[in-house]
Amino acid sequence: MRIDVLSAVPALLDSTINESIIKRARSRNLAEINVHNLRDYADGKYRQVDDSPFGGGAGMVLKPEPIFRCMQKLLGEREYDEVIYLTPQGVKLNQKKANVLSLKSSLIIICGHYKGIDQRVIEKFVTEEISIGDYVLTGGETAAAVLIDAVVRLIPGVLNDSESALTDSFQTESGFDSPVYTRPAEYEGMKVPEVLLNGNHKDIARWRGQEGLKKYNKVKKKKSNNK
Ligand code: ADE
Repeated sequence: MRIDVLSAVPALLDSTINESIIKRARSRNLAEINVHNLRDYADGKYRQVDDSPFGGGAGMVLKPEPIFRCMQKLLGEREYDEVIYLTPQGVKLNQKKANVLSLKSSLIIICGHYKGIDQRVIEKFVTEEISIGDYVLTGGETAAAVLIDAVVRLIPGVLNDSESALTDSFQTESGFDSPVYTRPAEYEGMKVPEVLLNGNHKDIARWRGQEGLKKYNKVKKKKSNNK
């Protein structure tokens, strides 16, 4: 998969794309991630990428020209499956969406300022607007990091144990993982459930299903209290 990210603050994406799973995906040639600095496409001595909104109001808006130029360069080089704009007004990201995106071969992600990007960019290029949650971030880069992580780890071959993505929370029936433990079997008087130690895989699978469901019901209750 190829992902091109357009950003006014590319440094914010450095650790996401250069560490851990994403680094592995890149080194295995399963994901190619290119971050484009919008300043490189801006005019003038100061290479200004944002400006105040017409009609007044607080905050800055990303100017159309640098984004148009970068988009036109990329679209002139190859076709893309989706052009995603990250915005709190978008459709909320969930595991299903991450699964669908992980099957694509090329994506463009546009990161905006919290006040947004010039509407003409959206009208001309954007195929999907995605939000990572009902809260406002300062910039789309943090959201892009979340989206890239959620999608790239699902590409076959990225995770070492091909099973592990399939048994993740939200891929399982209840939507929740069971609790997990590692050595030692007893720590500070707290014991790992016996069923996990006896090597009976049927019993373990049943226990995991039940515990996942228990967790799901507990979280559902907490969420409804939080509304
Ligand atoms: N940009 C600012 N806030 C965001 C959010 N919640 N999701 C996606 N992009 C954003």
